[in-house]
Amino acid sequence: MKDLTDEIQVYLLPLNQFDDAIVNRSLQLLTDEEQGSAARIRHGETHRNFVMVRSLLRVLLARHFRGEPGTIQLAFSPKGKPRLAGTEPDQGLVFNVSHSGDYGLIAITYDTAMGVDVERWRSHSNPESIADRCFSAEELAYWKALPPEHQLQAFHALWSFKEAFAKATGEGISIGLESCAISLPTHPRLISIPERFGSPEDWWLNDIDAGDGYSAGICYRGDQRKLHYAEPRELVNYLFNLVI
Ligand SMILES: CC(C)(COP(=O)(O)OP(=O)(O)OC[C@H]1O[C@@H](n2cnc3c(N)ncnc32)[C@H](O)[C@@H]1OP(=O)(O)O)[C@@H](O)C(=O)NCCC(=O)NCCS
Repeated sequence: MKDLTDEIQVYLLPLNQFDDAIVNRSLQLLTDEEQGSAARIRHGETHRNFVMVRSLLRVLLARHFRGEPGTIQLAFSPKGKPRLAGTEPDQGLVFNVSHSGDYGLIAITYDTAMGVDVERWRSHSNPESIADRCFSAEELAYWKALPPEHQLQAFHALWSFKEAFAKATGEGISIGLESCAISLPTHPRLISIPERFGSPEDWWLNDIDAGDGYSAGICYRGDQRKLHYAEPRELVNYLFNLVI
């Protein structure tokens, strides 16, 4: 595997290619606890997405460490951010995942805080009230001034970058999404963040193209890294070839 100290590998996973048979086979790669979590998810698409992203993450990590997917041990921060057991947060091999609709997203790198988010666009009945609560003053002013036909895309773009930042810090949405501000025109960047996370210039945002109807973003800390869009076929083939 390539040196991941100056690169981030990004896997965009089309999850709608997986039918129930492959989902059920992939379940076998998960721990008892993960299988229990999967069993509690009643919504079909959400169940599929959890199982497929967690099992593909296991396949990816196992390939990296030349081990078996089922033996990878994960640990979780108090707010739920997963990492490899036996590592400190943001140290060693670092990964983050997201799933929404037909897509899963997995990113891996080394030795930095990093988070990802993919969002399927949804038409909210009252987007203004969500924006009022979750957008910073700068974001709100920018978003409200957009022509109506651009607001849906911009709403989700802002949302996915804010969540990517919230996940990079490990706090998740408990950070208060309104506490960070993002500028979208030209290239996306953070313009203000809670003081405890340093300066906005310490963080990078990148758009990930997940196609029409989706917004996706990645946020990471430190020096700029190259984004490498990895071909997911090899990971997926592992699951298709599973004989259980
Ligand atoms: C993380 C969070 C932003 C996810 O938002 P979402 O858009 O619904 O879901 P996504 O698909 O983008 O991301 C889910 C993934 O984020 C990861 N994740 C969970 N908590 C995380 C956190 N605090 N930081 C970074 N990543 C996190 C998990 O891998 C999860 O996927 P999985 O459960 O399938 O493995 C949101 O659920 C959250 O903030 N959770 C924290 C809740 C909390 O504060 N709990 C305190 C303990 S009670």
